[in-house]
Amino acid sequence: MTLLDPLWTSLLYLAAAVCFILALRGLSSPRTARRGNLLGAFGALLAVVTVFVSVKMDNIPWILGAIVVGSAVAAPVARRVQMTQMPQLVALFNGVGGGAAALVGLLELGHTGDAWVRVAIVFTLLVGAVSFAGSAITFAKLQELMTTRPVLFPGLPVLMGAVLLAAVGVGVVVVFNGSFALALVLLALGLVAGVLLVLPVGGADVPIVISLLNAFTGLAVAASGLVLGNVLLVVAGTLVGASGTILTRAMAAAMGRKVTGILFGAFRGGSTAGSTTASDRPVRSSSAEDVAVLLGYAQRVIIVPGYGLAVAQGQHTAAELALALQARGIRVDFAIHPVAGRMPGHMNVLLAEADVPYESLREMGEINSEFRTADVALVVGANDVVNPAAKTSAGSPIYGMPILEVAEARQVVFLKRSMRPGFAGIENELLYEPQTTLLFGDAKDSLTKVLGAVKAL
Ligand code: TAP
Repeated sequence: MTLLDPLWTSLLYLAAAVCFILALRGLSSPRTARRGNLLGAFGALLAVVTVFVSVKMDNIPWILGAIVVGSAVAAPVARRVQMTQMPQLVALFNGVGGGAAALVGLLELGHTGDAWVRVAIVFTLLVGAVSFAGSAITFAKLQELMTTRPVLFPGLPVLMGAVLLAAVGVGVVVVFNGSFALALVLLALGLVAGVLLVLPVGGADVPIVISLLNAFTGLAVAASGLVLGNVLLVVAGTLVGASGTILTRAMAAAMGRKVTGILFGAFRGGSTAGSTTASDRPVRSSSAEDVAVLLGYAQRVIIVPGYGLAVAQGQHTAAELALALQARGIRVDFAIHPVAGRMPGHMNVLLAEADVPYESLREMGEINSEFRTADVALVVGANDVVNPAAKTSAGSPIYGMPILEVAEARQVVFLKRSMRPGFAGIENELLYEPQTTLLFGDAKDSLTKVLGAVKAL
């Protein structure tokens, strides 16, 4: 088979890189996210096909076999996964990427005599291994195969320091002598460092660490591009590294936390996972019919969706309720907190699925000043993102996290099943305030009952 001209190869790589950049741009808004995703997938396909037609390859049946096996495993998993389990799927795919980059580094060690290339190999090996092992632990935590709480043992910081120091030492030796055996030691040290890095992280911080490890994988892939002399891998890896870093910082800021606090907070005893027990203090609860009257005779309603709406899969009923209220001349918006749910953009994806128009999805910064003009704030399966403790209680794990100011609304209605707290495991004083009413039950059931009662008004 004649191989593609190098000029055409470069042009196709450039086209793939442009697809990746446009994909990232598309993913920055819910309106264009689907197109962005498709464009990114097309860029990846273009890149793979270009490699096949431009590089003289051995072992083609093995390579094709690996692609078939990988696709046969990944495609059904990605199709079947519940939206609430998306973070662990991302962790898994991300870890595999880091592991693949580390293996490329290991195999290329025997093919180079250049010390600078070996620097890139050492980086790929170490960072790829950290990402692989760290992602495996985050997957196990989110899938509840192990505790989601921070895991600490005496001497953990010292052990972590010793492992990193040893890794740097072994890495320097590998750069100078290219020893395969020492490269394997480096790989093992990277795996241990990945485990130790993620063990002390718990609760709400785990998804942020996934994003950080995603950035690590990007850097490992970029370095493997240097090793292989493949510009597209350098570009794609750098894009993943940069976007992962930006996302990590954005998520940390939305929770009012520092990235260093997330990684090392548990060493100082700053666990993020609190209690899960229900409080038995008295609250004002109400029937679906009473809530329907409250909503049906309001002028302005703001719906605040949270994790519970996703669990109950009540998005379509929430959208229908909004339409029924709008048909009565009521202004209805959805207030979106950046970390509501369990992954970035969770509420946007959920409500887009139910065809809620994008202009009804209002970001926190934009809608917060409007709660004071709302007659009712209807909080559907959200808790931490509306908890005033984030502003008032300095010792609270969510202290400093910007919240949706639902307490400013004339009436607040919570739809939840019990008095159990949210993800951060802390009480929400707003549940006990005089303007608050609770409608107990599964969010979808409650919404269905309220919708029926609104229609009957
Ligand atoms: P949470 O604070 O977790 O509250 C969820 C609420 O939904 C709870 O009050 C729960 O009460 C209720 N609920 C659960 N299942 C329900 C169902 N089937 N029907 C009705 N209610 C149900 O959720 P949130 O306000 O969305 O906050 C998100 C939390 O996750 C924050 O702490 C955030 O930091 C964290 N987090 C977010 C992300 C991202 S990027 N989104 C990543 C990691 C962590 P009951 O059990 O009483 O029903």
